[in-house]
Amino acid sequence: MKNIAVTEALDWRTRIFDTIPFPALILSTEKIIISANNAFLKKKNTDLDRVVGKTCHHVFYQMDIPCSAAICPFSKVIAEKKAHSTFRRMEPEGNEEVWVDRMFSPILDENGNVKFIMECVRDVTRMISLEKRSIHMRQFLDKVIQSSHNAIVAADMKGNILLMNQAAEDLFGFSMEEALQTKNAESLYPPGKAKEIMKNLKSERFGGKGKLFASRVDIINAQGETVPAEVAGAIIYEGEEEVATTGIFYDLRGKIAAEKKLNEVLIQVAQSEKMASLGQLAAGVAHEINNPLTGILLYSNLALERLDEKDLVRKYLESVLDDTGRCRDIVKNLLAYSRQASPAKEIFQVNSLVEHSLSLMRDQELFSNIKLVKEMSGEMILIHADKNQLSQVIINLIMNGIDAMERKGCLIFRTYRNKPDKKAYIEVSDTGCGIPEDSLSKVFDPFFTTKETGKGTGLGLSTSYGIIKENGGHISIKEMSSKGTTFLIELPLYVPDEQITVS
Ligand SMILES: Nc1ncnc2c1ncn2[C@@H]1O[C@H](COP(=O)(O)OP(=O)(O)O)[C@@H](O)[C@H]1O
Ligand SMILES: [Mg+2]
Repeated sequence: MKNIAVTEALDWRTRIFDTIPFPALILSTEKIIISANNAFLKKKNTDLDRVVGKTCHHVFYQMDIPCSAAICPFSKVIAEKKAHSTFRRMEPEGNEEVWVDRMFSPILDENGNVKFIMECVRDVTRMISLEKRSIHMRQFLDKVIQSSHNAIVAADMKGNILLMNQAAEDLFGFSMEEALQTKNAESLYPPGKAKEIMKNLKSERFGGKGKLFASRVDIINAQGETVPAEVAGAIIYEGEEEVATTGIFYDLRGKIAAEKKLNEVLIQVAQSEKMASLGQLAAGVAHEINNPLTGILLYSNLALERLDEKDLVRKYLESVLDDTGRCRDIVKNLLAYSRQASPAKEIFQVNSLVEHSLSLMRDQELFSNIKLVKEMSGEMILIHADKNQLSQVIINLIMNGIDAMERKGCLIFRTYRNKPDKKAYIEVSDTGCGIPEDSLSKVFDPFFTTKETGKGTGLGLSTSYGIIKENGGHISIKEMSSKGTTFLIELPLYVPDEQITVS
């Protein structure tokens, strides 16, 4: 009876072994095959007699020596008396590579020693290829995030930073490692801003719940500087639960600089258009007035000659002549502004211009409380221009500076050049009252003056503008504040091979 029970039990075990749907072997501790299940025999297309007595490495790899312990856990299973498994790549069946999970489980005898080892072989090719695909996908996504020109930052719901791409490291100025350890999303913005963004993200109003349309924001970089940016955000959900936030930042500095440049160009174009039409008007007026003025001067002089030395009317006529002279000067300036007077050009050093202009100023009393600072270039900067006309410009700037400082302060002259651009520069700065913002666009207009009648004609800067244009240059206000003003004159640098005779 007992024997029958044992046989039956053995029979059950064999049947269970055969029911296992994947290949399985019973091995001796010397790796000799004792038995193989049906799935194994079917898979290998063989029968039991042909495998029993062979080694495991032979039937799987046609090898005479066992696999190394580094890849086969067989000896570990014997030593530890517990199951271990290993992933192994098998010879490809067709084109596809095949991966298997080989599980070795110890079968113990009545004394608890390992008697046999059961090896189960499960095909995990699909699982491995899915995992490979998912790793590949993850790496691809990582590359997409890393290569984005926009800065991408992800943080958990407590604000701890989880991820930053290269553009984010560049924009914020710290590495992802630093961010993971020390930074919180709140520190990326000015105080209070992170909370506001979070509130907007959760609201329906700014792109739908969990989303935030791109909006203007200031961010704080590692140097503590405020950088203008645009941020679009999203909350990442797992089911209903909010697990993280992402922000995509766009650095606006380039765009703002380009807009500013464009604005400057537009202002310059508007300014030169205005100057051109004012110039035409000025030229017309000057021309119309010039003829009658010549008449008034001629006849007044003739009348004066006929009058007796003691005649009281002489005084009146002399006043007429004086005022007419003033009118003629104004007309001359207007003609210069409208570029009707052609310059007499010569080649000279820019540095000499300042000295020449100062020497022409007869009223040296003007400078008694003025400190003159000359920051002149040590290089030889030559220009080809009308020296007397340019001196007139420098004198205008000096006079305006002295007026703005109420005759007390500092006048600074600077000269320098930009060789590649072929430009020579002259700067005249004063420590005066500065020019109010709303006057900026008008100071070069003829007759614009803020000085009281009799003191200012409003022709100094407009004449200077005309002269500089006539000499191929440009005059502008480089800086102005309540501490003073800097005028900048730009002129073409003289390049010797232009073949101009030195006068
Ligand atoms: N250096 C300066 N600092 C402050 N304001 C200035 C300066 N230069 C010019 N201005 C302003 O520009 C106006 C026009 O100057 P300008 O054409 O020389 O005429 P005027 O000197 O006769 O007033 C001045 O009235 C003054 O308001
Ligand atoms: Mg003036």
